Amino acid sequence: MKKQVAVLPGDGIGQEVLNGALDVLKAVEDQYGHEFEIVQGKIGGAAIDHHGTPLPRETLDLCKQSDAVLLGAVGGPKWEDNPVDLRPEKGLLGLRKELGLFANFRPVKTFESLQDASPMKPSVVKDVDFVIVRELTSGLYFGEPRERRGKNREIAVDTLQYEKKEIEKVVHKAFQLASERRKKLTSVDKANVLESSRMWREVVNEVATEYPTVEVEHLLVDAAAMKLVYQPKQFDVIVTENMFGDILSDEASMLTGSLGMLPSASLREDTFGVYEPVHGSAPDIAGRNLANPLGMIQSVAMMLRHSFGLHEEAEMIDQAINEVLKAGYRTGDLSGHEKIHPVVKTDEMSDFVVEHFTPNYA
Ligand code: NAD
Ligand code: IPM
Ligand code: MN
Repeated sequence: MKKQVAVLPGDGIGQEVLNGALDVLKAVEDQYGHEFEIVQGKIGGAAIDHHGTPLPRETLDLCKQSDAVLLGAVGGPKWEDNPVDLRPEKGLLGLRKELGLFANFRPVKTFESLQDASPMKPSVVKDVDFVIVRELTSGLYFGEPRERRGKNREIAVDTLQYEKKEIEKVVHKAFQLASERRKKLTSVDKANVLESSRMWREVVNEVATEYPTVEVEHLLVDAAAMKLVYQPKQFDVIVTENMFGDILSDEASMLTGSLGMLPSASLREDTFGVYEPVHGSAPDIAGRNLANPLGMIQSVAMMLRHSFGLHEEAEMIDQAINEVLKAGYRTGDLSGHEKIHPVVKTDEMSDFVVEHFTPNYA
């Protein structure tokens, strides 16, 4: 198989975790005889420094011409005080919007061998396996107006707005996913307060009639935040508004032991996707070879599955990660309270993953 992959490292640990992910992709390529043409582009702070904008035209064009995109992370203290249009995050939000990636899948699956890395009890984190489907191109992140006003700019406004069809699209995606899994969909909203949430709930109930095999429940976002740490096993697929999904996924990451473990896929109706870890540029550990690359590497596996239909290859990556963790190798973020595991560096971790690939006899 021949595919073009746009690679946007971004800032901070973005480059570090992507290096390892590309080694893994190269090993898949060699083992299975595929050809993945890697074309690098700039986004975020790196693009501001080189092109004066967080999302240069050529980066967007590159992504549009590619079959899939791998993205590291954007942001950092260097650009924190920039005006809003010259912030790294604006590049990421622009990319998602311009490419129409309305559904962000964030799988949360715990590894048996990482139970002691999570601050939660083993009985709580054991066998957790759910997916947060976060609406990604509307809601509070994109609604207009968003502005400062008043004589002394003493009023700040953000707008949580949805069109019905925007909710329908992402909710359909979530129902489809739930139909392929354990057939339970939890819709998370704040319908006791927000008008947009009341419409969200209405739409979920309407769309539900097309998926009679899927059980539907509605949860208010505050209660959902509690249940995520109280009884996370009850979840299969969660669908929610853009910012709710952002917050709940970082919370849920700690079930796995670290924010560095979570991958994501930003999708639309076709097979194209942007694949990135859930975490950010981690300025506190950047440049020191300390970051956990497994969220990024699992994002590569998601790309192989969703964009290229390469299920066996993706499975091999997931299994290799499982083996490496079972063998006790961990980056510092996973070292757990008792610190009994050898702490490995970012690049060593991706090397271990490649070493644990099973031979291909095909
Ligand atoms: P962060 O996700 O970068 O880091 C939060 C904490 O988790 C830090 O202590 C960090 O060291 C740790 N962490 C994150 N990823 C890790 C990994 N792979 N391995 C080990 N530890 C890891 O969030 P933040 O510090 O709030 O934000 C820093 C910058 O990143 C900000 O500019 C923010 O806007 C940006 N950000 C970008 C993305 C993205 O590009 N998708 C996501 C979140 C935050
Ligand atoms: C994420 C990040 C982004 C978001 C930021 C960097 C704009 O937190 O991908 O989760 O809020 O969507
Ligand atoms: Mn986030």
